[in-house]
Amino acid sequence: MNDKELYIKATAAAENAYAPYSDFRVGAAVLTMDGEVFLGANVENASYGATICAERVAIASAVAAGNRDFEAIAVTAPPCGICRQFIFEFGDNIRVITGPDADHLESETISALLPGGFHL
Ligand code: THU
Repeated sequence: MNDKELYIKATAAAENAYAPYSDFRVGAAVLTMDGEVFLGANVENASYGATICAERVAIASAVAAGNRDFEAIAVTAPPCGICRQFIFEFGDNIRVITGPDADHLESETISALLPGGFHL
């Protein structure tokens, strides 16, 4: 699975976003070291702070299915600070793939995107 294929899956996942408040749909696709892909979309809430971002939905889905080793995550918007910390939890070298579209992708490690990320 290359970066473009993973990003296209994230784009498809964005269609399932529940975003009635912001109307800003985000999709994410996380690639495990075993080559499996788990999808996420943002899920908003009338109590705005209860909203969960696409990246965290994708990673939580993967973890719930028994996966904790990730190679990369593609997301259709730049990851917010909470999501950067959430990704960092599972490895400093996870690549984060973003872009305005599948033909203009950038990738950077999570440790570059979150200098000084917190670990116990
Ligand atoms: N959002 C994400 O899903 N991921 C991010 O990293 C940035 C923000 C969502 C949260 C909210 O539903 C909407 O985008 C607008 O902030």
